[in-house]
Amino acid sequence: EDNKKESRGALVVLEGLDRSGKSSQCSRLVSYLEGHGVSAELWRFPDRTTDVGQMISAYLTNTSQLDDHTIHLLFSANRWEKRSLMETKLKTGTTLIVDRYSYSGVAFSAAKGLDIQWCKAPEIGLLAADLVAYLDISPEKASERGGYGGERYEKLDFQKKVAESFKVLHDASWKVVDACQPIEDVEKQLQEIVLNCVTECRKGKPLSLLWS
Ligand code: TMP
Ligand code: MG
Repeated sequence: EDNKKESRGALVVLEGLDRSGKSSQCSRLVSYLEGHGVSAELWRFPDRTTDVGQMISAYLTNTSQLDDHTIHLLFSANRWEKRSLMETKLKTGTTLIVDRYSYSGVAFSAAKGLDIQWCKAPEIGLLAADLVAYLDISPEKASERGGYGGERYEKLDFQKKVAESFKVLHDASWKVVDACQPIEDVEKQLQEIVLNCVTECRKGKPLSLLWS
């Protein structure tokens, strides 16, 4: 139908350090949007359900070892394999709330010392987020939150480097939300920011591509 065709969904990405609260906020956002009559889905990267995703998962749980460049490209491939479905969903009016995306991809690999331009290159041509909401928390505070789960990158020293690379990547279009506030306050701020973005996309803001 014409109406449906006219209003596309929004590509909303939540980024932040491990334990910044992204996952809970993502599911809360999806419920909130659905409650407001917005068709929405929760996505996450890495998507561990695919073959590539299982290789990534094995690496993160330390059951496999991979060269830093190799794992970087696998994370990217994991986004590429979802790209066409992502575009279809957005164009047919579904808003996607995505728990991590290319920004984590670059920030985590750059934190290992890989060149940032090299890290961005395989992301070129993926859909750019309409909104990046960054859940801001210090590495120290994040590490105090119920401890890390034991995956490869969940170590304070490394998270400090990731925080630094997020600072380099960050641009004026990102919405920074203080993740140390009570969970309901973070939720309220996100709801407002995201609903604005959904409205803009409905009005016809065009989709754009990385790396822009
Ligand atoms: P998760 O905890 O959100 O499942 O993500 C697993 C880890 O993978 C997390 O420490 C962030 C890291 N990561 C990358 O290094 N590159 C990427 O492209 C993505 C999406 C996540
Ligand atoms: Mg994790």
